[in-house]
Amino acid sequence: MAIQFDLSKKIFKLDTCTTSYVIGLSPEGYVGHIYYGPRLNFMCTNSLLRMEERPYTPSVNRREKCSFLDFFPMEYPTGGIGDYRESCLDVRSENGSMACEIFYQHHTIQKGKPALNGLPASFGAENEVETLEIFCEDPVLKLQVVLSYSVFVQEDIITRNVKILNQGTGRLRLEKVYSACLDMDNEEFEMLYLCGSWARENHLRRGKVRRGRQRISSNKGESGHQEHPFLALVTPETTQTTGKVYGMHFVYSGNFLAQAEQTQFGQVRMVMGINPEEFCWNLEPGCEFQAPEAVLVYSNEGLGKMTRSLHDFYRSHMIRSKYLYQKRPILINNWEATYFDFDTEKLLSIAREAQKDGIEMLVMDDGWFGKRNCDDSSLGDWYVNEEKLPQGLPDLVNKVREIGLEFGIWFEPEMISPDSGLYRAHPDWVIRIPGREPGQSRAQYVLDLSRPEVRDYAYESVARILRSAPISYLKWDMNRQLCDMGSSYLAADAQQELFHRYVLGVYEMQERLVTEFPDLLLENCSSGGGRFDPGMLYYSPQIWCSDDTDAMERLRIQEGAAMLYPLSSIGAHISDCPNHVTGRTTPFATRGHVALAGTFGYELDITRIPKEDRCQIPGQVETCRRYQHLIRTGDYYRIASWSEAAPYDCWEVAAKDRREALVTYVQVLAVPNIHSRKVLLQGLAPEKRYILEETGEVYTGEELIYCGFLIKELYGDCQSRLYHFVAAKE
Ligand code: DGJ
Repeated sequence: MAIQFDLSKKIFKLDTCTTSYVIGLSPEGYVGHIYYGPRLNFMCTNSLLRMEERPYTPSVNRREKCSFLDFFPMEYPTGGIGDYRESCLDVRSENGSMACEIFYQHHTIQKGKPALNGLPASFGAENEVETLEIFCEDPVLKLQVVLSYSVFVQEDIITRNVKILNQGTGRLRLEKVYSACLDMDNEEFEMLYLCGSWARENHLRRGKVRRGRQRISSNKGESGHQEHPFLALVTPETTQTTGKVYGMHFVYSGNFLAQAEQTQFGQVRMVMGINPEEFCWNLEPGCEFQAPEAVLVYSNEGLGKMTRSLHDFYRSHMIRSKYLYQKRPILINNWEATYFDFDTEKLLSIAREAQKDGIEMLVMDDGWFGKRNCDDSSLGDWYVNEEKLPQGLPDLVNKVREIGLEFGIWFEPEMISPDSGLYRAHPDWVIRIPGREPGQSRAQYVLDLSRPEVRDYAYESVARILRSAPISYLKWDMNRQLCDMGSSYLAADAQQELFHRYVLGVYEMQERLVTEFPDLLLENCSSGGGRFDPGMLYYSPQIWCSDDTDAMERLRIQEGAAMLYPLSSIGAHISDCPNHVTGRTTPFATRGHVALAGTFGYELDITRIPKEDRCQIPGQVETCRRYQHLIRTGDYYRIASWSEAAPYDCWEVAAKDRREALVTYVQVLAVPNIHSRKVLLQGLAPEKRYILEETGEVYTGEELIYCGFLIKELYGDCQSRLYHFVAAKE
C-alpha cells in the first residue's frame, strides 16, 4: 500500500521505495504539510504542523488566525486570507474581492492514475501507481479544490495536480492556479536550476536561497530557452552522490513560474505552476479548471539519484511513443547541409551517400513548401515547392526509400508568414491586438490556436502530407515566442486565457497526430531547445536539444538536459566544422562521442565533408548500433563536469543488470605535464570482474568504484575516448 490514511491522527502517508511524503489535517480542516524525505517505516505524529506552538490553531485562538496562517505549513495555500507568503490559488469573485479559504471535505485513494483532461500527464498501471485525491471546499465561494497526489513507488516520484470546480452560481475568475507547493524548514537551501539562451540552453546554475522570493519563469508562451520549468532546493553539501535534493519539474509547455521564498520564520516555500502574469481564467458555474502536473522528487544521495529517478520515471510513465524502447533510425538531416538551398537531386545525392555508410533515414528540413527560399515567407502554405521538388513529394519519398532510407519531414504548424497565401486569406487567424501592428520575429506571426478552425487547418496541413506518402518521422518546429496577445475569437474578458489556450491547442493537435499516426517518430523542436519540457515528452520520445551542434558547447547543454531527461530523448547530431554557430573546429570522433549521449544522427553535407571525416561514419554508425540499447535503457552517472570545474567531462551509462558500462571521457582543454586522470566509476557491482573491451584488461567492480580508473593521456584540446566495460563470465 503506497498510500495510508490514519483516521485517528488525520494523517496521510505516501510511500515510495525510499521516500515518504506526509500530509496532516488541522482540526479546522486545513491541509498541512508534515514531511518529505527518507522513507518512514511507521506513521508519524502531526507535531511538525506545530499546532501546539503559539499562535495556535484558529479554532483555539481565533484572535491570531492571520499569524497562524502565515506560519502553518500549507499543502496548497490560497490568497487573500492572511497567509502572506506566495499563494497557489487566487480567486476573484463577482463582487470584485479576492479571497479563498479551503477546508478538507473528504478523500479517495485509488489504484492507478486518472488522465488529465486536455493535458499531458504521467500514467501507470494499477500495480505501479496509487492516487490520493483530497477534496477541499471554500464554503463561501462554493469552490471545490481537488488536490491530487500520485505515488510512483518504484521510481521514487510523487506527482501532483490540482482541479478547481465552480459549484456556485456566480462566475469566478482564477487569477493564479499553481500546481504544487512545498513548505519546509530552511536547511541553508540553495536553488539549482537550468537557464540559458538560444544555442546556450540548459546551463546549470546554483545559488543560495536568500530572504524573500527568488523565481525563474517564462512569459514567452513556451517553456523557453531562457529558464527551464525545473527547480531543486539542495543542501549546501550536495554533489552528484551526497546531499538532500528536493526537485520539482513541471509537465507544461507554456508560461511557468518556479519560486523559492525564505520567510520571516526561517521557513522556505517552494511553488511551481502556470505563470500568473497575463493569466486569468473565467470559471463559469458548473465548470472546472485542470492545472498541469508537477513532478516531485526527493533524493538524499545527491543529484545523481534524482537524475536516475527522473529518467526511469519519464521512460516508464511519460513517454508513450512505441519508439521509446525500439531502435530508432540513424538519421541525416539536411538543415546544416543545405539550409534552404536544395532540390530533389541534392537530397537524393545525400541519401545515396548516406546509405553507403549505413545511415537509415533522410530528414528534409525547412524550405520544401510554398516559395520558401529563405525564412521570410510561406509558413502556412504547406504545399510542395515545385521548383525544388518538381516531381512532388511522394516521388521524392519513394526514391529515397528505393535507395534504402526512410524519409522524415519538417513542419512548423503553429506559425504563419505575413508573406503567405494563408495570411492574405485569413489575417484574423493571427495572434494580435486590434489596432496594433503585431511584432514579427524571424519574419513570422503566430497562429491563434484558441480558434478551432485554425487548429483544424494547421493539423490537416500536416496530416494531409503524412497521408500522401510513407513518411516515418516528423520534426515539429516552433521558431518564435509569443507577444501581442490578442485573439479575435475570444471575448474581451477572456483575452487573458489566450496563453494557456494556445498551449492546450498545441497539445490537442499533437494528440491528434500521435493518435492518427501511431507509427510516426515525432521530434519536437523550438529553435533548438526552446520547448524541451516534460509536456512535449508525452507526445514525442525525442526533442531537439539545441541549434548549437558544436561538440564543446553541447557538453554543457547536454549535461543540463541529461540531469533531468533520459539520453534517449535528447536530440543530438554530428555536424560539419568549423561549427556554424561557434566557428570552432573539433575532431570528428569527438563530435560522434558527444552525439552518442543523445539520439545520434548527422546534420551535414555528406557529399562534401572532408574524406578523413567521411571515412569515420561507418564506424560511428556501428558504434551507435552497438551501444544504442544500453544508452536507451541504462542508468546515467555524471562522473565529472567541465562546466563545473574540471578541464574535462566524463559520464557513464551502466546497464541496469550491472553487466556492462560505457564511459565517455572528453578532454576539453589539454593541460601540460599531467599524464593521466583518475575517474571513479559508479553503477557497477563491486564483486564482479569487468573486462575493458578495448584492451582486455580486467578490473574488479570495487576497484573501478573505489580506487578509480586511469584515463590515458590524450593529446590536444577537444579529444575524447569511449571505454566499454563488460562483466566477465563467472
Ligand atoms: C530551428 C531548428 O532548431 C533547426 O534545427 C531548423 O529546423 C530550423 N529551425 C529550420 O528553420
